[in-house]
Amino acid sequence: MSLLEVNSLTKYFGGLVAVRDLSFQVEEGMIIGLIGPNGAGKTTTFNMISGFILPSSGTVRFKGETLNGMKPHEVCAFGLARTFQIVQPFPEITALENVMIGAFVHYHNTTDARRKAGEMLKRVGMARRADTMARDLPLLELKRLEIAKALATEPQILLLDEVAAGLNAVEVEEVLDLVKDLNKDGITFLLVEHVMKVVMSLSHRIVVLNFGEKISEGTPQKVSHDPQVLKAYLGEEVLVA
Ligand SMILES: Nc1ncnc2c1ncn2[C@@H]1O[C@H](COP(=O)(O)OP(=O)(O)OP(=O)(O)O)[C@@H](O)[C@H]1O
Ligand SMILES: [Mg+2]
Repeated sequence: MSLLEVNSLTKYFGGLVAVRDLSFQVEEGMIIGLIGPNGAGKTTTFNMISGFILPSSGTVRFKGETLNGMKPHEVCAFGLARTFQIVQPFPEITALENVMIGAFVHYHNTTDARRKAGEMLKRVGMARRADTMARDLPLLELKRLEIAKALATEPQILLLDEVAAGLNAVEVEEVLDLVKDLNKDGITFLLVEHVMKVVMSLSHRIVVLNFGEKISEGTPQKVSHDPQVLKAYLGEEVLVA
């Protein structure tokens, strides 16, 4: 049994079909990449999996249970966490307090939540930023903060939506290392990513969407040579395996 199973997932927004009949699986311990040109349906897929929007049809199963209809906080408490394409910390509270919000999913007193949050900030290399207001953090640290907040909910799978977007080459390497480390610690990942270096070097397998439909799936090597994929990306980015 796969950890996460997406079966025939479909989402209509009025007359527009954002995702059509999408099926794929994420096995425990893997890093799976979900890629596709702008508007391909990647974030919509994340939103359906994590309970932020209801699918028009199809099912999401996690640890053998159907998630359809569960609220985002219930999905999260069940072990599936996500980060957002646009980082959304609370700017007027500290880094530690932002991570505590995640910790409160499982820890119901402030002392335990604070301890858990501190551990997670350390895990992402931000212990010394605990007391810094989120509004004063640069983008790389905001991305780390988002990951720490998600980790504080103790996920088995973490969905990252464009974690490398907006970062420079050196910062991208740092995020790559962090994801690899967390994966070694046992966290499974589903990544939406435009930065090809990230998705190609991290993913065990890649699912490619175009206009809401899966057009290819396989190893980074395989999808980067798939004519269908090259055609979908023509005029966008060059795939480098
Ligand atoms: N809430 C919504 N209402 C109407 N249409 C939407 C909504 N959300 C997404 N869409 C449309 O659904 C399609 C898929 O959008 P989605 O955001 O999932 O794409 P994406 O692959 O994440 O793109 P990007 O790479 O730009 O982030 C697009 O045509 C988008 O305009
Ligand atoms: Mg998106």
